[in-house]
Amino acid sequence: MSELKIAIQKSGRLSENSKKLLEECGIKFSNGISVLKTTAQNFPVEVLFLRDDDIPQYVEQQVADIGILGENMVYEKNKDVNIIEQLGFAQCRLSLAIPKEETYPGLGYFINKKVATSYPKILSDFFKKNKITAEIEEISGSVEIAPGIGLADAVCDIVSSGSTLLTNGLHEVETILKSQAVIIGNKNLSREKQEILTSFLFRIRAVKNAKENKYILLNAPESAIPKICSILPGMKSPTILPLVEKGWYSLHSVVKEDEFWIRINQLKEAGAEGILVIPIEKMIL
Ligand code: PRP
Ligand code: ZN
Repeated sequence: MSELKIAIQKSGRLSENSKKLLEECGIKFSNGISVLKTTAQNFPVEVLFLRDDDIPQYVEQQVADIGILGENMVYEKNKDVNIIEQLGFAQCRLSLAIPKEETYPGLGYFINKKVATSYPKILSDFFKKNKITAEIEEISGSVEIAPGIGLADAVCDIVSSGSTLLTNGLHEVETILKSQAVIIGNKNLSREKQEILTSFLFRIRAVKNAKENKYILLNAPESAIPKICSILPGMKSPTILPLVEKGWYSLHSVVKEDEFWIRINQLKEAGAEGILVIPIEKMIL
């Protein structure tokens, strides 16, 4: 039986979360993570640890069947691969930044300036679209120091927390694209590999849904139940169980993480008491 080969970043912003995702999907590995490739004990996958910059090409050539990496890299490398799923982690943006003491009049600032970046394709497309003639200095790492050492006037780089820009005396002036971790796949996967991918995606979605939702339990008097049910739609509809105390019920439901605080206030106003909110480990819709 063949295995699905998954490429993940060896070290960097995505590597920890990529490994965590595999673990949360119940995929276990025997050898340590210092190796270049490892086979799972309980799921037909092999994991290859690579530089994120190389993953699009390897997936196109089917050295790996799928890869986990940032959309930024996928667009920059522009290889013939499918984007299969957005994963919701490693959120960042690709931005233009200039020395903090300079005022920014708008995109015209960049005319005839030199911009250092590891994203020459995305940046030149962006400048072309906005009819800006600028010089692009391609460098593979530590882009943020380029203005300080006189190599460039500005940078185009990944910003996540913003601390790299801050410590290098730069300020962000334009966002070119927003990015998060995605799964990319080779376009000609065999049927067998496609099936493994389908069950892998099923697990990923269960983990993702679980993270985006909370299990909620609360007590309420009978009169408050219609109102509470309209606030808490749940997966189908809330579970309602009678309490020992007459006229009182316990309601169980699922609430979206991002709506959580609004819902809690609405529930209290509607008469809910003893509200418990519990994390969900896996959620299959
Ligand atoms: C990016 C970027 C900065 C850092 C920004 O590197 O080049 O160094 O992240 O993060 P911050 O805003 O939180 O300080 P990345 O991790 O993508 O590494 P790579 O380009 O070497 O792959
Ligand atoms: Zn990299």
